[in-house]
Amino acid sequence: MSLVAHSLDVIKRLQAPSGAYPASPTFSAYRGYSWLRDGAFIAEGVSRHGDVTGADAFHAWCARVVGDRAGQVDTLVSRAGRGEEIPSAEMLPTRFTLDGVDGDDDWWDFQLDGYGTWLWALREHATRHGRLAPGVEKGVRTAARYLTAFWHVPCYDWWEEHVEQRHVATLGSVHAGLRAAVALGVLSATESAAATSAVEGIADLVAREGVTEGGFLRKWLGSDAVDASLLACVEPFGLYPAGHPVGAATVAEVERQLARDGGVYRYLADTFYGGGRWVLLAGFLGWNHARAGRRDDALRYLAWMAAQATPSGDLPEQVPDLLLAPERRQEWLDRWGPVATPLLWSHGMYLVLADELGVTA
Ligand code: BGC
Repeated sequence: MSLVAHSLDVIKRLQAPSGAYPASPTFSAYRGYSWLRDGAFIAEGVSRHGDVTGADAFHAWCARVVGDRAGQVDTLVSRAGRGEEIPSAEMLPTRFTLDGVDGDDDWWDFQLDGYGTWLWALREHATRHGRLAPGVEKGVRTAARYLTAFWHVPCYDWWEEHVEQRHVATLGSVHAGLRAAVALGVLSATESAAATSAVEGIADLVAREGVTEGGFLRKWLGSDAVDASLLACVEPFGLYPAGHPVGAATVAEVERQLARDGGVYRYLADTFYGGGRWVLLAGFLGWNHARAGRRDDALRYLAWMAAQATPSGDLPEQVPDLLLAPERRQEWLDRWGPVATPLLWSHGMYLVLADELGVTA
């Protein structure tokens, strides 16, 4: 079976009856949970390969889970409006059980990017297949009100770290999500105007504080480091398009600092499982190259992704050769067991990049 077919099969087989995508079915720390961030990119992958039903079910699940929390969101928004500082534990979580319940395990739970990424993926799916998944309006409006009110608040990043910082990749995800929500045409006039001014606020803040002297995006406001999650601010989120000097400089700097032999590190100080190269990040870099017309470079990243599959075709989260901090690997093996495999987000990104390059087998 080709890796495209195997990826579709793994994702379809593991999708829960609720519509949720588990991040990784057997990995100790992720088992039983679905992340909006992972799920949105997984849904984008299958939507591109014709699994309309699977993507619809995921989007309907997200809309239900988020829409059910409309009361909580409205309370949070009015508390913030009265000037109250809200503890991050009271914000919406970053992951839910497959049935859509907040988990009760401790987690780095306050992350805004997934809500934006979900809205972005929903719109991509709707545009591609010519219709909006039914019944999603309430969830879209709830997510948009939440992001509009809280986009400027520091939160954990894509890697669930540094809750005290404002992360540029998170801002890029929220920017894309709010643009998508407005474009879907289901917000009220007031919600739409507020979301539009939030989009402008994000773009202004990043233009003023999010770009280094070297002209590339920063990991967080105030840092000079890069992070591979910034790739998404160019393609697919378009906070800075590939043709813009900041977009081009960001992709070039991430590649210069973080890509090695076809694989891509998250950031230079990474120590998680020893800091290996992540399969899904090769997908983001390849996606950027494909959109910039650098087909051969994009194919190189696709080939590297495929070469990381286990004999049965499953893609891991990261690989253990060329580690940034090899002395830190064992502590994670002891704590959480072997690296998450299959990671559905890795398969989702393989599907996205294969589709960008017209690879179907
Ligand atoms: C990663 C997140 C991801 C989660 C589930 C974490 O280790 O840092 O980006 O969403 O795993 O895959």
